[in-house]
Amino acid sequence: MILKETSSLKELSLNNYLFNEESAKLYEEYTKKTLHYIQQFLSQRKFYKGDDIDEIKKDKLKAKLTNINDTHSIDDVLEELNELYIKNAVSFHNPNYVAHLNCPITLPSIVAEILATSINTAVETWDQSNAATFIEQEVVRWICNEYNFDENADGVFTSGGTQSNFMALLLARDHYAFENFSINIKQNGWSDDISKFRIFCSEKSHFSIKKNAALLGMGFDAVIPVKVDSKMRMDVNELALEIEKVKQDGNIPIAVVATLGTTDYGSFDPLETIGKLAKEQNMWLHVDGAYGGCFVLTETHNHYFKGMEMVDSVTVDFHKTLFQPVSCSAFLAKNKKHFQYVSYYADYLNPLESKDAERPDLIEKSMQTTRRFDALKVWLTLKTLGTKTIASYLESVHHLIKEVYENVKSNDAFEVAHEPALSTLVFRFKHKDVNDDIVHDAINLHVKNTLYKAGKASIASTKLNGVTYLKFTLLNPKNTVANLLNIIKMVEETAMQYESTLKTV
Ligand SMILES: Cc1ncc(COP(=O)(O)O)c(C=O)c1O
Repeated sequence: MILKETSSLKELSLNNYLFNEESAKLYEEYTKKTLHYIQQFLSQRKFYKGDDIDEIKKDKLKAKLTNINDTHSIDDVLEELNELYIKNAVSFHNPNYVAHLNCPITLPSIVAEILATSINTAVETWDQSNAATFIEQEVVRWICNEYNFDENADGVFTSGGTQSNFMALLLARDHYAFENFSINIKQNGWSDDISKFRIFCSEKSHFSIKKNAALLGMGFDAVIPVKVDSKMRMDVNELALEIEKVKQDGNIPIAVVATLGTTDYGSFDPLETIGKLAKEQNMWLHVDGAYGGCFVLTETHNHYFKGMEMVDSVTVDFHKTLFQPVSCSAFLAKNKKHFQYVSYYADYLNPLESKDAERPDLIEKSMQTTRRFDALKVWLTLKTLGTKTIASYLESVHHLIKEVYENVKSNDAFEVAHEPALSTLVFRFKHKDVNDDIVHDAINLHVKNTLYKAGKASIASTKLNGVTYLKFTLLNPKNTVANLLNIIKMVEETAMQYESTLKTV
């Protein structure tokens, strides 16, 4: 009797907690309750409650995180979560959030997230993914078409720009080793010749190039940073010189990374000239378009993509500039055969003998095994908004930064580091009577930290020639010039206040 009761109780709770037809009503109820908290999050006026670590620690204690062995009602747990997380979360859609490459997200992409998470499709093999495979392929085809890549190109969704860049370096390395030395790294592993391989990128390229070279066993030193010109674009004369130097040292140039939209400056490396040099030298050409890649949709930035016909691979981040939730990125290869360097056939999952061109297993192109259906977000966004709306969002953020640039440039209190090509501005508060960069560094960092801690504005900082600068990254087309100039005003006032306290010490 007791045994029977226990087993039916267990059955009941399983049916309650797991997503299935019996829990459909509960699913609806949970969703409604969650929506209530999301509405609360949306109604928060500030981008952030303010950084008070003691408060957050108190919330953490209140949240009884250690108590995970017990069961609680969804209401209690959501309330705890509200105190600990939701109330403390940073809202990227708030116009005073201008720090990093986080964008506001489209409503259709959220609908897609709900669908993809609830249905929980894993897209690695046809038998798990089915028609979702075609949706990912359709989105990949769409972005390939935007870059004028022919049917021989292909791509795959990844977790982000870092992983996409990893795949690029891996394909470049393995392809060069195979074609030029008949070395099969995938099969046989390392060989001494590979220690001589060198990859070139601008000194302003993303750190993931160096990090990935290290993760691939090639080391930071395999990456040769190339100097930039006054517009923060790779200087192609310098690239040619660096390639010659590498050869004279007995090393082997294998790849160039052209960044279309550098992280700090939004600058576009001159793709066409780099491409010609890379092809003359039999090198792989990768485009890191994590930030700038979606600007191919715009009229303002389309010309930067001249030379794409020479490119071997591309990174493009939809979670930066297609207004998609994290994670959403793609890696494209101009020649789909090159995906062979990451493919593997496992008996239990995608046996070679079952390979069927009509029913592809996307795992063949991916570093990941189990993989989310991230392509659905892009698909739903494109089908509802259309590319013209996305392009107008991107053009808006570019125009906003131009306006801020003109204003800051004409203000004596500031020094700007560059003319923005995309949607970032690097600048610093600089008092004309103070000649000490250490003092200016302290003031600018103080401004950034003070505005953040008070929940007034989130601004990033970076370094140029060892000196600290502030950075605006604009990805919110709903922002306004008036609001942005108000943040500039807060920067100036906070800097002046701090400067006066320095003088009185
Ligand atoms: C140019 C560039 N490449 C790669 C990355 C890495 O992208 P993720 O953060 O999606 O890994 C970034 C991130 O800011 C970037 O700006």
